Amino acid sequence: MWLFLGLGLLVCIKAEVTPVFVHTGQDLFLDVQKPVTLEQDDLLIWSFSDRKDVARLRDSGKTEIIKDYYGRAELCPQKQSLLLRNVTKSDSGVYKAFIYGYNPKHVAEYNVTVLDARRSFADIFECKQKMIVICSGLAILLCAIISVHIIVKVKKRK
Ligand SMILES: *[C@@H]1O[C@H](CO)[C@@H](O)[C@H](O)[C@H]1NC(C)=O
Ligand SMILES: *[C@@H]1O[C@H](CO)[C@@H](O)[C@H](O)[C@H]1NC(C)=O
Repeated sequence: MWLFLGLGLLVCIKAEVTPVFVHTGQDLFLDVQKPVTLEQDDLLIWSFSDRKDVARLRDSGKTEIIKDYYGRAELCPQKQSLLLRNVTKSDSGVYKAFIYGYNPKHVAEYNVTVLDARRSFADIFECKQKMIVICSGLAILLCAIISVHIIVKVKKRK
């Protein structure tokens, strides 16, 4: 029974990951559903793919943007939301907001997929090219059938 409860909990936790889709060059906005009151010495951290921190917020309201994100990331102290400007494909991954302190707490999790805006255009172009090839093929086939018909008719008349 505990196993099922555990599995159920795992599913619930997994379901909490919100998928987000953005195109390259766009801004990414991630928020916490409800801003959490930070106790003394609490630290709220937005991290990327468990590998690195993006931004940190202290209980004093002071924010810190990690070097790789200078000039690109913003953490709003009131909303505790994260803004990442001009995203690239390498920004795809899981973003988490976590509070470290006396009562550690997981506050938000997003699975971000950055889509290449240009690729979708290329796909359309490629599709059009394929259509042209198919249409040309059909036209040639139709011409061949008509020619055969004409030849047969001409031969029958003789
Ligand atoms: C967005 O990022 C691209 C590639 O990293 C860069 O070339 C471009 O100048 C950036 N645009 C803005 C508005 O920062
Ligand atoms: C994130 O989304 C991608 C593509 O939609 C998926 O393949 C991947 O498994 C997801 N990761 C998590 C941790 O949910």
